[in-house]
Amino acid sequence: METKKLEISYQEFSSLEDMLPEDRALALAAIDAMKGAYAPYSNFCVGAAVRLDDGTTVTGANQENAAFPSGLCAERTAMFSAGAAHPDKAMVSIAIAGGAGGVLDSNPASPCGACRQVMAQYQTKGGKDMSIILVGDGKILKFSRVDDLLPLIFNNI
Ligand code: THU
Repeated sequence: METKKLEISYQEFSSLEDMLPEDRALALAAIDAMKGAYAPYSNFCVGAAVRLDDGTTVTGANQENAAFPSGLCAERTAMFSAGAAHPDKAMVSIAIAGGAGGVLDSNPASPCGACRQVMAQYQTKGGKDMSIILVGDGKILKFSRVDDLLPLIFNNI
């Protein structure tokens, strides 16, 4: 038996101004996309913005439903929209911004497991690393690839 250790590294920024211009623009698009949230049950509004390898940005926001499981997170709304409209483009980055009542939280919203799994598959489909940017008020985290938030990704079939 061997005990092994997994380590992840990520970048933390205190201001959008310190980020690469393309990352800053994607983070701002995610913040703006929060306006599209339909969250009458949780009141927690999330916006997501996906950047494709040709520079196109596709946004989404969480959509809730009285039949709870029928709703969808912002990340999957954005990725499915991007996948449907631009099937031949790789998704190279996704920014996520969220907060109660549409006010950006200081603690960056982090994607749920189902969204991470969908990110993983689109990263594989695109053949390029997809970075993940979690946007909080005064605290922004950047992960280089989906593997950092979903180690040991299922890819056996
Ligand atoms: N939500 C997202 O859209 N993305 C996340 O990363 C976390 C949670 C949504 C789902 C639901 O509409 C609301 O936030 C509260 O969980």
